[in-house]
Amino acid sequence: MSVNLRALAAKVCFAVVDQGRSLAEEIPKQAAKVEGKDKGLLQELCYGVLRYLPELENHVRHLMDKPLKGKQRVCHFLLLVGIYQLKYTRIPDHAALNETVSATGNIKCRHLKGLVNAILRSYQRNPEVSTNSLTEPVNYNHPGWFINKVKSAYPNNWQSILSANQSRPPMWLRVNNRQFNASQYLKMLEASEIEIADQDEKSGALKLASAIDVNKLPKFDVGAASVQDAAAQQSARLLGCQPGDLVLDCCAAPGGKTCHMLELTPDIEQMTAIDVDESRLVRVQENLDRIKLEAKLIAGDATNPESWWDGQLFDRILLDAPCSATGVIRRHPDIKWLRKADDIKALVDLQAQILKKMWSLLKPGGTLLYATCSILPDENSEQIQQFLATQTDAELVELPEYQGSLGWQLIPGEQDMDGFYYAKLVKTK
Ligand SMILES: C[S@@+](CC[C@H](N)C(=O)[O-])C[C@H]1O[C@@H](n2cnc3c(N)ncnc32)[C@H](O)[C@@H]1O
Repeated sequence: MSVNLRALAAKVCFAVVDQGRSLAEEIPKQAAKVEGKDKGLLQELCYGVLRYLPELENHVRHLMDKPLKGKQRVCHFLLLVGIYQLKYTRIPDHAALNETVSATGNIKCRHLKGLVNAILRSYQRNPEVSTNSLTEPVNYNHPGWFINKVKSAYPNNWQSILSANQSRPPMWLRVNNRQFNASQYLKMLEASEIEIADQDEKSGALKLASAIDVNKLPKFDVGAASVQDAAAQQSARLLGCQPGDLVLDCCAAPGGKTCHMLELTPDIEQMTAIDVDESRLVRVQENLDRIKLEAKLIAGDATNPESWWDGQLFDRILLDAPCSATGVIRRHPDIKWLRKADDIKALVDLQAQILKKMWSLLKPGGTLLYATCSILPDENSEQIQQFLATQTDAELVELPEYQGSLGWQLIPGEQDMDGFYYAKLVKTK
């Protein structure tokens, strides 16, 4: 039987929503079965269904009496793939319908072929649903618990945050300062007819007008530029490594920020990059190799430095903590369905534990930058407030970016950046 792209997309969405797997794990498995442009379409369909999951499910609920259950769940996701194409893509309706209906044969649901055909045609005839009774999850395409959390943290702009999460993220570039400054690289992009839409003043990050294959970027293969959101590009500047520093990046994989610090400060005495996930350290090494940078990589647990630390205190520590990733939903729409309300407390506890341990590895007078890609105060300002209340030798370094808040909370979509949080802490002597 030939491969059917819609069937592959339905399998990916089933694996994410019903089995708790990530898009990053599941798409490559299915994408390996198709060629060229089809890989892009597979990604588009999976991301699209996960962006609009409650809304698409609401359509299905209106069109059939009983939702598909058990062994028929993959077919439920096939229906969502079908409606997504009809509602949000430029794929001609007849092609979307034919391909989706024939996908039933690829997911062991041939007996549901007539049903899938009937539901999709009925949606096509009457795509409207009454908007009067829509629940908030359906209206905003986010889980209810999360909408409530965003509402309480951001009473004035919660809707714009949810809407930014639904947008397609831009491609931001980081220019390798060891090789070129931003304006030199900008000229090289212009010469290659690659259009720039914006530049972040603070970090020099360049926003492309549209995403392109990285291999088309000038000198990408020799490390002249990397892909990294402008929010993440603030970290190296804020930590401000100096020549001669011993630096620790204690949650380093895949290494974007490790590389950035080394690019900005070539004379760092030593960069130690650790991560608990050994397999992810391979990505750090690949990034270092492409840019021709060096760091000491250790597979280690930041809650247990006794098992890997050599006893030398660090001048600077970057703690880019494991977090809810609620600031990067536009890049990873699966986060909305993988993350559960109960996860937040466990993450906050883990972050507090890592912060306390890493603080003990910092020299008196040293600096630690705490960062997350979360927008939840529990993991950010409240975490830091709690730390400052108990750690008497810790002080928050005042930065203009804070604007009166405890730390710098970047909101998704603000200047078209990801949501991020930074707090710069210094150890008193
Ligand atoms: C937000 S990501 C880091 C991103 C990275 N700093 C970058 O810019 O490319 C968080 C990382 O923390 C790692 N991590 C989670 N728990 C950890 C622990 N207890 N000790 C060390 N690393 C941990 C995860 O494996 C993950 O790679």
